[in-house]
Amino acid sequence: MTDQIKHIHSYYSPNDLYNKIMEGLNSLGKDLTKLTLDDLQPVDEFHIRGDTATKELIKLSGFTPEMHILDVGCGIGGSTRRLSHEIGCRVTGIDLSDEYIDTAERLTQLLKMHDRVKFHATSALELPFDDNSFDGIWSLQMNMNVEDKPGWLKETYRVLKPGGRAVFYEVCGNKNAPLYFPVPWAQDSSMSFLVPPEPFRDFIEFAGFEIVVWNDKTDLAKKAFSNAAKPAGEPNLPALGVYLLVGNDISAKAYNLHRNLDEERVSLIETVAVKPESRSATPR
Ligand SMILES: C[S@@+](CC[C@H](N)C(=O)[O-])C[C@H]1O[C@@H](n2cnc3c(N)ncnc32)[C@H](O)[C@@H]1O
Repeated sequence: MTDQIKHIHSYYSPNDLYNKIMEGLNSLGKDLTKLTLDDLQPVDEFHIRGDTATKELIKLSGFTPEMHILDVGCGIGGSTRRLSHEIGCRVTGIDLSDEYIDTAERLTQLLKMHDRVKFHATSALELPFDDNSFDGIWSLQMNMNVEDKPGWLKETYRVLKPGGRAVFYEVCGNKNAPLYFPVPWAQDSSMSFLVPPEPFRDFIEFAGFEIVVWNDKTDLAKKAFSNAAKPAGEPNLPALGVYLLVGNDISAKAYNLHRNLDEERVSLIETVAVKPESRSATPR
């Protein structure tokens, strides 16, 4: 692990995460033996527009029940499980954070989905899978933490079967810089590596993919964060929320994301890219 990756790993390493989520569920009066995906949604879908975006992306994906999909940067597995639940496919999630992966596995066990949904703690830059292993790729809001975008996309391309589709839902930079920090994915600039949409598109194509869907979702992101206000006084945190994943300063992070979106410092892109049938597993 490089020092930079260790630094990012430490940002996504809360203590005792699973038990904190259980406490939150208990205080909301949830019966843990009858837990649903929706019960976990406030904490386990850590991306802009949460489960609404996940459901839209599932429709866009074209994935089918017999497929095996790789979720790259899966967090605690909210959208990993939802993808498997909605499509009926097998999904393997990987994430840098051991604490997130431990939580993802235990939540999946609790939901009795462990036959179809598996997890590994590993970096997206060194995937422990053979070439052409997966029928599809699913990666939601992870590129922000990855400086080596060619390396990440090269690995993603390598493990995808020819003809397979990759769904990316990614925060990108925009016309203006620098960003206001902290933001939900980074405490400061040492862990955030955004490029504007056009260079991001170039990175995807350079890896060998053909882009078949490209939608700018920035306006919807702006709407989602339009009420994020400047925090004042002690934070009033709900029983369950993504602050459990990245700290109690979540209101400041949401407020800065709102400012970064409004001032055209950040954008949001959903895209589907295909690994062409005719090319070899080795990208350009
Ligand atoms: C904003 S969260 C998104 C999590 C998840 N995709 C979701 O939508 O709920 C970003 C995730 O990327 C992971 N991540 C960052 N850099 C990574 C890397 N090099 N390899 C694998 N995962 C990484 C983090 O640990 C974190 O879980």
